[in-house]
Amino acid sequence: MRPGRRGGSLAVFPGSFDPITNGHLDIVARGLRVFDRVRMSILVNPEKQPLFTVEERLAIIRETYRGNPRVEVDTFSGLLVDYAERVGASVIIRGIRAISDFEYEFQMALMNRRLNPQIETVFMMPAESYSYVSSRLVKEVFQLGGKVTDLVPAVVERRLRDKYGAAIRPARRATARARRS
Ligand code: PNS
Repeated sequence: MRPGRRGGSLAVFPGSFDPITNGHLDIVARGLRVFDRVRMSILVNPEKQPLFTVEERLAIIRETYRGNPRVEVDTFSGLLVDYAERVGASVIIRGIRAISDFEYEFQMALMNRRLNPQIETVFMMPAESYSYVSSRLVKEVFQLGGKVTDLVPAVVERRLRDKYGAAIRPARRATARARRS
């Protein structure tokens, strides 16, 4: 395995991470069993309308892994394989939660291999307890007043409250009023 620029093996774990979930954390933990360093690489995609800005996502991941020098965080744009090569990583990690993830991931892995055969994609499976967890569902559930504790790190729950708090509270008040009447 090619050593990263800082020495030791380096794998990039790319994604939108809008926001990170405990499923992502599980994949990072598994990645660290195999590679010396895992770099979470946030795609900067001007075509998407994320909930959290790139700066917020960077801050969330930094806070989550504060004190762990083996987990790095970064942003990238353009082709993933070009970015991986630039930072000295020869492996891309992707998580597969269910067979439904596989088709898209398989296509991406083969395309990336065609673009740069030196870079391998490694699929990792999170714990079954996270097989249904996605950033999209976490946002939806939270926005509608559901609990996401245990599905995301505490910092994400706090940030979600900061984002949606004002919008959720009036909805809850309306529900309480409706129950009373
Ligand atoms: O968490 P996501 O949104 O499923 O991550 C998708 C990501 C960032 C891995 C993918 O969109 C990507 O690699 N984009 C970079 C552009 C690129 O290299 N495209 C060709 C891949 S086949």
